[in-house]
Amino acid sequence: MYMVVVNEFGGSDQLDIIERDTPTPTGAQVLVRLTSIGMNHAELMQRRGAYRLTSGDPPFTPGLEGGGAVEAVGDAVSQFKPGDRVILGLHATRRATGGEGSYRSHFLTDENQLVRAPDCLPDEQLGAVWLPYLTAWGCLVWRQDVQPGQTVLLPAASSSVALAASQLLRDLGCQTIGTTSSPDKLERLAEMPEAMYDHLVVTRDRPWWKDVKQITGGRGCEVIFDPVAAGDFLNSEVRLLAPGGTLWVYGLLGEVGAVDVTPLIRLDAAIRGWVLGHIADDALPDGYAYVLDRLADGRFKLPVAGTHKLRDVRAAHEAMERGAHIGKLLLLP
Ligand SMILES: NC(=O)c1ccc[n+]([C@@H]2O[C@H](COP(=O)([O-])OP(=O)(O)OC[C@H]3O[C@@H](n4cnc5c(N)ncnc54)[C@H](OP(=O)(O)O)[C@@H]3O)[C@@H](O)[C@H]2O)c1
Repeated sequence: MYMVVVNEFGGSDQLDIIERDTPTPTGAQVLVRLTSIGMNHAELMQRRGAYRLTSGDPPFTPGLEGGGAVEAVGDAVSQFKPGDRVILGLHATRRATGGEGSYRSHFLTDENQLVRAPDCLPDEQLGAVWLPYLTAWGCLVWRQDVQPGQTVLLPAASSSVALAASQLLRDLGCQTIGTTSSPDKLERLAEMPEAMYDHLVVTRDRPWWKDVKQITGGRGCEVIFDPVAAGDFLNSEVRLLAPGGTLWVYGLLGEVGAVDVTPLIRLDAAIRGWVLGHIADDALPDGYAYVLDRLADGRFKLPVAGTHKLRDVRAAHEAMERGAHIGKLLLLP
C-alpha cells in the first residue's frame, strides 16, 4: 500500500508518497481498498499548520473521508465480505484526524465504522459524500430545523458544502441565495444542475449585501450558513439577518477583522458555531440515511469538480488552492 505524508508544515512540496506493507485485518477489522477520497479545504489548512487541532504535528497523513471496496476481513467480521462497496463512517475519519488520515490506498478500520454504499454512487464518488452533505444536514436540519419558506444565505456558493446545502434546502422548500466571488463563477453555477440556488450574487468589489437586501424585500435571511465569517463580510452578514435569525459559522476562509455586532441586539439574532463533529453518535444513522436516500432518488447530485490521481496529490492541492473549481475535488488511489 502507499500513503501521503506531510513531513513538515508548509506548501504542497511537503506532500510525499511513502510505501508501506499492506496490513492484515484481525478480529473485527476490515481492510478497505480506497477508490475515492474527497478533498476538503481543511486538508490545505492541516498541511499549512493552520489546523493543528485536527492534524497534530508532522509527520501525519491528511484526509477526512474515503470509500472503496472491502479487500479483506478479520475472522470476527460478520457484516462485510471482500468485494462489498463501503463508505468510511464519520468515526473512522474522526480517528483519522489524529494523523492517520484517508490519503492512502488502503484503510484499516473496524466493521462498525463502515457504511454500506448504495448502488447509485460510482466507485470514484464513494469517499466524497459525508463532508458536504452531513455538514449541511447536521447544522441546517438536525440542529437548526430550518422550515419551508425560510430564506437561507449560502456564502462560497461554489464550495462543495454550500452546493450540498443548496440541494438540501431546495428539497425542504426553502429559498436560497448563494454568494460567489466572481461573475465567471456565477455564470458557471447558473448552468449547473447541481447548483440549486434560487438567486446568485457576486461579492467581489461590490456592495453585494444590497442585492441580498433587495431579494428579501428588505427583511433579510432567517438563516446564514457561512464558511467565510470574517471582517467586512461578516459585518455585512450580521446586518442581513431577519429578526430572530441565526448566522451559523462553519469555516474561516476570510481574513479576521473587527465586527460590529450591535444589530444582533435589535434583531434578537445570534451567531453560532458549527462543526460536523457536533452530530451526536445516535443521530448519525439518521444522517447517513437522509443523505443516501436522496442520492439514490436523485434529489441530491454530488457536484464533482474534477479528479486527480492520489499519487499526484501535490497538483491536486495546488488546484484546490487556486480556487477555480466548483464542487468536490476527488483523489483516486
Ligand atoms: N464545520 C465543518 O464541519 C466543516 C465541514 C466541511 C467544510 N468546512 C469548511 O467549509 C469551507 C468550504 O470547504 P470545501 O471543502 O467545500 O471548500 P472548497 O470546495 O475548496 O470551496 C472553497 C470556496 O470558498 C470560497 N472562498 C475561498 N477563499 C475565500 C475567502 N478568502 N473569502 C471568501 N470566500 C472564499 C470560494 O468560493 P466562491 O468563489 O464561490 O465564493 C472557494 O471556491 C471551508 O472553510 C471548510 O473548512 C467546515
